[in-house]
Amino acid sequence: METKDLKPESLAAQAMGWVDETTRAVSPPIHTSSTYLRDPDNQYRSKRAYARADNPAFDQAEALLAALENGAQAALFSSGMAAATSVFLALAPGDHVLAPKVMYWSLRNWLAGFATQWGLEVELIDMGDAAAVQAAVRPGKTKLVWIETPANPMWSVTDIAATAKIAKASGARLAVDSTVATPVLTRPLDLGADIVMHSATKYLNGHSDLIAGALATREDDASWQRIKALRAQLGGTMGSFEAWLLLRGMRTLYLRVHAASRSAMRIAEHFSRHPQVAEVLYPGLPSSPSHAIAAKQMRGGFGGMLSIRAKGGEAAAIATAAHVTLWKRATSLGGVESLIEHRASVEGANSPVPIDLLRLSVGIEDAGDLIADLERALAAAQGARK
Ligand SMILES: Cc1ncc(COP(=O)(O)O)c(C=O)c1O
Repeated sequence: METKDLKPESLAAQAMGWVDETTRAVSPPIHTSSTYLRDPDNQYRSKRAYARADNPAFDQAEALLAALENGAQAALFSSGMAAATSVFLALAPGDHVLAPKVMYWSLRNWLAGFATQWGLEVELIDMGDAAAVQAAVRPGKTKLVWIETPANPMWSVTDIAATAKIAKASGARLAVDSTVATPVLTRPLDLGADIVMHSATKYLNGHSDLIAGALATREDDASWQRIKALRAQLGGTMGSFEAWLLLRGMRTLYLRVHAASRSAMRIAEHFSRHPQVAEVLYPGLPSSPSHAIAAKQMRGGFGGMLSIRAKGGEAAAIATAAHVTLWKRATSLGGVESLIEHRASVEGANSPVPIDLLRLSVGIEDAGDLIADLERALAAAQGARK
């Protein structure tokens, strides 16, 4: 069967069906060379010169991600932050950019600090409100609209198609941090986005054993070439071993994301009726303000990330996290093991995150076991506070 006729699940499982020409290996070798032989006539016909710019170890993961996102090309980076910051640094000082008030905190801090000092005019707005986006966008001056959906750690969903329309009408590009949705649940480029970004550390890899980032582009245009040049110049390039591990993880992406989404839905429903839980934040719940957009935009599930707000405030939230045993108290998300984290402790004073919020990254364990462990922890936390 032709690649174009295959479902993404099949493309991912076989990493596009690639087989090594020389050895017939179905799993790729790990290319570690930092440099490549120049032809006697001074050319580089292999199109490879030096591994800070490019590396054959990236080829398959980049081709697979481009196919899964329906993009023209993809590029791997040394981290999600290296990928995201390259999109902003490819702009010029003086450019106006819009980004969400609620987003991955480290990128928000970088935008408010370094990017602003460097000369970008950064405006943080409520991306859930199309009228606010329309009012903030400045035709000819706004060069980039950055959104994250679902947005960490409150999981509000932004309407990609509507935002793309507003961005396009004013001459701005739209970039989407789709780390949490993954191409399994949302394909931003199909909805009008220009660039999609992933912290590949999370679901794309899925095993909490590497730091990685990736971008996919709708078009191989001048802006994309500038981003690729920045990767080579700043050296935000991924290592060969990491690229190999990432491709291995991506083969099971669809199974993992569907399993995590199913369990997250069960956990969200269960704790939305729990006496010690003030609120469950999950776009899959019909009570969520994001549910209507999520149901329209996300296919096959609402993702593996949710948050709960503990009755009893910050102390109750921290005590609950202290009493889990199956859930692991750790930062990050998107791995096969479930993680719990009190986000306000991480994000500090400028964070919009409520102090009673616990972020849950649902892995692939049995959902009943995860529910029972969190039930026990909530009860133990309440007991400890009496
Ligand atoms: C939504 C989101 N975007 C970007 C990043 C940054 O990715 P990395 O840690 O791979 O640099 C993270 C990391 O937690 C994230 O959760």
